[in-house]
Amino acid sequence: MRKRVIAGNWKMNKFLSESVKFVEDTKEKVPTGDKVEAVVCAPYPFLTSLVESAKGSKLQIAAQNMHFEESGAFTGEVSPAMLKDIGVTYVVLGHSERRELFAETDEMVNKKVHAAFNHDLTPILCVGETLAQRENNETMSIVEDQVKLALEGLTDDQVKETIIAYEPIWAIGTGKTATSAQANEVCAYIRKVVAAEVSTEAGEAVRIQYGGSVKPANIDELLSQSDIDGALVGGASLEADSFVQLVEAGA
Ligand code: G3P
Repeated sequence: MRKRVIAGNWKMNKFLSESVKFVEDTKEKVPTGDKVEAVVCAPYPFLTSLVESAKGSKLQIAAQNMHFEESGAFTGEVSPAMLKDIGVTYVVLGHSERRELFAETDEMVNKKVHAAFNHDLTPILCVGETLAQRENNETMSIVEDQVKLALEGLTDDQVKETIIAYEPIWAIGTGKTATSAQANEVCAYIRKVVAAEVSTEAGEAVRIQYGGSVKPANIDELLSQSDIDGALVGGASLEADSFVQLVEAGA
């Protein structure tokens, strides 16, 4: 039985005081059992305060990106060692917004996934197709390539620890959710790719989230699917009550 992961990706939203209030308001409400993990993916400036405020609770704090280098002349970047140093435990990598708007390549994403493991950070690796690619029947090949390239060179155990978030780009922030069947079809395919490329055990163990207009009203249906092990949620994770409802749905 795979443990579900519900992660709220705030993107470039909120200010420090409301971020801390969010964690204060939610940390005692997220389920503590072994069915679900709750993760908040926050902007860099808030991470230290949020780690501090989530201490002693089950709520985990994630970064939304990082560089793959250890340190050095990379103005404006944040290293995996820095995230580890302040107590961050997860990191979102290869989000489609980073791939599209900041020119992140599969090769960079692969380096970041390795760097995350080198610093005991759990990567939430995002993959997904554009609307044009879906309409061209390229969804499976695009997602397969992204998964293979991102996981290249990892050990079997590292792949088992990776969280993959399938986020069809056309469903992000559009209110257009993939149907649960569409989402499950791709998540099941990703699992098959991992099983074939890495091992049957890794395919079974890897946790695959769906992301794209997930909200309290549709999460039950999505989580009832055989290969969906959680959700990466943008807009609906910004409100504390809604985030708690989403996490409770996974418990
Ligand atoms: O990473 C989460 C995401 O891109 C989905 O955003 O607002 O459609 O839930 P949203």
